[in-house]
Amino acid sequence: MTTYAAIAPPAPPTLPLAIDSPGQADPTSRKTSQGNTAGKHVVRTGRTHTSRAQGATALNKRPNYTSLEVCAGAGGQALGLEQAGFEHLALVELEDWACKTLRHNRSEWNVIQDDLNVWKPPADLRNVDLFAGGVPCPPFSVAGRQLGSQDERNLFDRAIDLVQEIQPRGVMIENVRGLLDPKFDAYREHILSRLACMEYVGEWRLVNASDYGVPQLRPRAVLVALRDEDWQNYSWPTKHPESARTVGETLVDLMGSRGWRGAEAWAASANAIAPTLVGGSKKHGGPDLGPTRARKAWAAMGVVGNTIADEPPGPDFEGQPRLTPLMMARLQGFPDSWEITGRKTNACRQIGNAFPPPVARAIGSSIVEAFSATDAQ
Ligand SMILES: C[S@@+](CC[C@H](N)C(=O)[O-])C[C@H]1O[C@@H](n2cnc3c(N)ncnc32)[C@H](O)[C@@H]1O
Repeated sequence: MTTYAAIAPPAPPTLPLAIDSPGQADPTSRKTSQGNTAGKHVVRTGRTHTSRAQGATALNKRPNYTSLEVCAGAGGQALGLEQAGFEHLALVELEDWACKTLRHNRSEWNVIQDDLNVWKPPADLRNVDLFAGGVPCPPFSVAGRQLGSQDERNLFDRAIDLVQEIQPRGVMIENVRGLLDPKFDAYREHILSRLACMEYVGEWRLVNASDYGVPQLRPRAVLVALRDEDWQNYSWPTKHPESARTVGETLVDLMGSRGWRGAEAWAASANAIAPTLVGGSKKHGGPDLGPTRARKAWAAMGVVGNTIADEPPGPDFEGQPRLTPLMMARLQGFPDSWEITGRKTNACRQIGNAFPPPVARAIGSSIVEAFSATDAQ
């Protein structure tokens, strides 16, 4: 199996606990081995498994609350919610390689490879604390045709059907920013009113990943819906825009890991957060950093975006470097210990489609606080 993971974690700046610095070691990681050769695609061995309670103790969180994750992908949101203190009872995902990534990183997770349209939740998932997911984005993406609810790939209504069946204590679903466009006002309202009929109070929010330590321009639409008593105790997480490092600061060690003499100079010029990473579709050819406009933004960052590199530049490299999958994962806020399985095209799609773990962790922590406050009343 091919996996992509960063090798040498950089020294992160000190940040509040609720924010991960991309590249920072995953505090709940079950692994001890750090791989060996810089930039190589390695399968790490010698993993150790810590109990969830131990991992949570390290984070000073209470792992009291359970969750179900649908359309789990590479596990960006699942990882962040785990860090916030949720215990995943099950994760549902259609794609083979994404399921492999989830199982590879958390062999103890109950990963169910199935189509959400046909999956029947077992009775023991009823009343799970959090129903979470990142349903497919193309129906609402400005990069697509924005067919919304008319798009056969739209799984929002199916997700709400499952909420009705499972009756979780709360709901958290993310999607692309396009869902907040005025043309989808009625659709968002329809989702909220369905939830209101089930006695949830919900709100959509535009959430910028860079406000939570992710070095990337990544606005996302997030829906949180809770029972009234929990909603009274809920507030969206505090923003920390100062916590996002530049692309250069985030990647300088990886860019220089094969001895590239230009790494420091490149890093000094890559002095802003990254443009939005894209996952692309299965129809899309090989991996890249997006369409022409996105590639221009990457060029301004000193990065060539028409393909993805297998390894960082060598000592005598001249010109603009390309990103490796490991670098993309770090820009998406994955800790270096999280390994993405599959060949390059597939791995880049998983990474580009992910919800940044630090953002999921921040929102998940706010939900945990709301539940805890209600339970303490
Ligand atoms: C936006 S991505 C989710 C990203 C994920 N939440 C993360 O943070 O890494 C959407 C995911 O939905 C999955 N998916 C699409 N259609 C599906 C279906 N019918 N049933 C289950 N999963 C599906 C895709 O394979 C993809 O991994």
